[in-house]
Amino acid sequence: MNQSLWTIEDLKTAMSARLLGDVANDVTGLSIDTRTLQKDEAYFAIKGDVHDGHKFVANAYAAGAGVSVVSEDWLDKLTGETGPLLIVQDVLTALEDLGRAARARTKAKIVAVTGSVGKTTTKEALRTALSASGKVHAAVASFNNHWGVPLTLARMPEDTDFGVIEIGMNHPGEITPLVKMAQPHVAIINNVAAVHLGAFKDVNEIAHAKAEIFNGLIEGGTAILNADDERIALQRDLADKAGVENIVTFGEADGADVHMDKLVLHGTCSCLTANVLGDEMVVKVGAPGRHIAQNALAVLAACKLMGADLAKSGLALADLEAVKGRGQRHRLAHRDERIVLIDESYNANPTSMRAALALLAAANVKGRGRRIAVMGDMLELGPTSKELHVGLSETVIERGIDKVFLAGPEMQSLNEALKGKVDTTHAEKIDDLIEGIKADLIGGDVIMAKASLGMAFARLIDDLLQTYEIESAPGA
Ligand SMILES: Nc1ncnc2c1ncn2[C@@H]1O[C@H](COP(=O)(O)OP(=O)(O)OP(=O)(O)O)[C@@H](O)[C@H]1O
Ligand SMILES: [Mg+2]
Repeated sequence: MNQSLWTIEDLKTAMSARLLGDVANDVTGLSIDTRTLQKDEAYFAIKGDVHDGHKFVANAYAAGAGVSVVSEDWLDKLTGETGPLLIVQDVLTALEDLGRAARARTKAKIVAVTGSVGKTTTKEALRTALSASGKVHAAVASFNNHWGVPLTLARMPEDTDFGVIEIGMNHPGEITPLVKMAQPHVAIINNVAAVHLGAFKDVNEIAHAKAEIFNGLIEGGTAILNADDERIALQRDLADKAGVENIVTFGEADGADVHMDKLVLHGTCSCLTANVLGDEMVVKVGAPGRHIAQNALAVLAACKLMGADLAKSGLALADLEAVKGRGQRHRLAHRDERIVLIDESYNANPTSMRAALALLAAANVKGRGRRIAVMGDMLELGPTSKELHVGLSETVIERGIDKVFLAGPEMQSLNEALKGKVDTTHAEKIDDLIEGIKADLIGGDVIMAKASLGMAFARLIDDLLQTYEIESAPGA
């Protein structure tokens, strides 16, 4: 049987809930989605963007739920066969209460990660690095919003040694309540960049919103900031103003507390030497790219500050694998040769697009192979969107990309800018490019595909994975 996460009594107390019916077993996990719910989990009937979870309570029991958490005003409206219920005023508020209770009962050291790009990548690297020293609990996928953070906290087993919480935002004011729930010992701001600019006047405003992460740091906690970030001075200032007691910086800039002395980028990994708060280290990072190595500096800083064994953390990073949609690699058989596919389909903004182009430039092409970039619109960039798309042209040229496929209305401007300089093809949608891309590919090529999630570049990835035989496990 799975381990107990919460007793029903604890759930009742933490959420001030009323129990209707009998629950046989302790709750082994928490779910907000009946399609992935496991036996004896508690189902939380959260209201999503499209559906209200209360409509699926019967499905939860069919899937094996031990109990469901529902709101008082839905009690008469539930349909189908139900089971034991925990009744609360508001389900999301109850989940937040449970998240706070989970935080209060554990002795785990907690790290919160925010930033404009690379939160999930850094969270997964923290999971890998901290796992060498103890039991880690980390967020699933990108669960970083108003329900993702409380759900992650509420799912944290009591005997966790290290908790890793990703915190995202689209608007000012969103991080403060989330970080207050998490009460981290260590807070990382990975970077501050033009992402989701839609809700913000400029990037400085984004820096202010990210700095809300300082509002929940526990007394004596530490902020980890990126010394190479353009707005490091502003971030430091905001940390001071928020009363943060300890600030640690990471990067290549002189004087960074976690300083990267040397970095060698390879096609499938990176090797670096660094001084991590006084400890000299040589580290192999199992996933390639300067951006991943930079994230690793923040990760090592956090590991040390959280009391993990730093040497073990460093060694563990050799096993790091790029996350699906964020640099994951596939080797595909093409006649007697091979194509390398770099899947960056999960999201895109100017910063991560540049990082991905660097990744492509550093990849090993074989024989007649070429470096091919398939790029789609970067969404939510506000009034400067066109400028930011055109702005990629220099990087494409500098990085020596041989061929470019572009999808989406915003990418039309980059297409114009690249005309005559690089071999480009443009279409409105990725679907209109797929056949042309496949017809063009030859053995030895490395192809990198990146766009905002809404551009559905996963369709290209899936198509390529189905068309060609996959030669080895992802990450190769
Ligand atoms: N430090 C970095 N600098 C630039 N790009 C990065 C960095 N770290 C990761 N990336 C790239 O940025 C993209 C997004 O990464 P990731 O999903 O980790 O970001 P996120 O901040 O979690 O995004 P979201 O806001 O969607 O949760 C990926 O392509 C990833 O490889
Ligand atoms: Mg994320």
